[in-house]
Amino acid sequence: MRIPRARMVASTVAATAALAMIPAIAFAQPSHPLTAATSSATSHTTSGSAVPADSLRALGAKVGLRIGTAVNADELASSSTYDSITAQQFSTVTAENVMKWDTIEPEQGQYNYAPADKLIAFAEAHGQLVRGHNLVWENQQPAWFTAESASLSADQVKAILKQHVISEVSHFKGKIWQWDVVNEPFNEDGSFVNNIWYQKLGAAYITDAFIWAHQADPKAKLFLNDYNLEYTGTKSNAALSFVQQLKAKHVPINGVGFETHLDTQYGQPDLLNNLQRFAAAGFDVAITEADVRTTLPVTAVEQTAQNADYSLSLQACLQVSRCISYTVWGFDDQFSWVPSTFAGEGAADIYNDFQPKPQYTTLQQDLELATGSAARSRY
Ligand code: XIL
Repeated sequence: MRIPRARMVASTVAATAALAMIPAIAFAQPSHPLTAATSSATSHTTSGSAVPADSLRALGAKVGLRIGTAVNADELASSSTYDSITAQQFSTVTAENVMKWDTIEPEQGQYNYAPADKLIAFAEAHGQLVRGHNLVWENQQPAWFTAESASLSADQVKAILKQHVISEVSHFKGKIWQWDVVNEPFNEDGSFVNNIWYQKLGAAYITDAFIWAHQADPKAKLFLNDYNLEYTGTKSNAALSFVQQLKAKHVPINGVGFETHLDTQYGQPDLLNNLQRFAAAGFDVAITEADVRTTLPVTAVEQTAQNADYSLSLQACLQVSRCISYTVWGFDDQFSWVPSTFAGEGAADIYNDFQPKPQYTTLQQDLELATGSAARSRY
């Protein structure tokens, strides 16, 4: 039974919250200024060393797939080893936390863009594209909003949401490849999460957020992002139906993000089927937060299962031409969100202590194998 772990994600995160490369293949989207951030696999240097030809980003470039990581802004500022691996191995980066609303607007009307601006500068220096994460979520909201939100009218909540979305997207205009506009809006039973936005505004909050984000940066690819969409079932069915309705109403939504937080104890998802059916409905898709946790200590059986789960998710993305990026949710176990969120679990990432694990080698080998097949034509 896989569903309970998903609920655990939502509830534990809520608790926590209370608290490039591309030798020949250009990454398309020609109208976007960020396309210029592509270049040869070996031309970018990091601490004086070229991007290795066998790095994930160089191998991904050969098959037209951007490989990304979530970035811990504190580590980026303090560890040169962290910086080197981030730059050498990945061609897209996601802010793990510093683009979330609580960081961006800690006091109402007072904006704190500096940490995210530093990440964007890093990305520009290393030929990486940026996934913006995220604009609207029930977690990691600023305390000033949480304190007053229940007493606000629908009109007041809508005005605050609009101000937030327009301000943040405008600040980063032209620098974000994909925005996670709405994060985790669905329950496992396919109903909408009863967050403050839904309570006050109904599902119109989702529609409005996409419209405002598009107004503020018409060239950014706008995504709805959620977990457990990897599995065929009530939740992914509801999400597909909903985004199809949005598209039918010409709401500016471009893609759907599949978080892909897997756990060896819940079996493998039919991810390929789900990527395919969203892509067939006209959406870009992306693996946005891949990791594979397991109970500790890791046994040989679990190690094999973790490798298999990473392989499944990368291969599924490789098989779907509209799967435009594969992002891991941080690359190193040292900094993973998993141990503090899922008791007794961990070892979810592809490095530990800055050393590549078998999971890394698995991704590398899958990319190498894909390189041998015909190059995919991506968007
Ligand atoms: C997590 C971060 O990794 C943690 O550092 C933070 O304390 C809580 O949020 N789904 C998401 C991500 O969309 O934003 C979450 O990131 C992990 C689950």
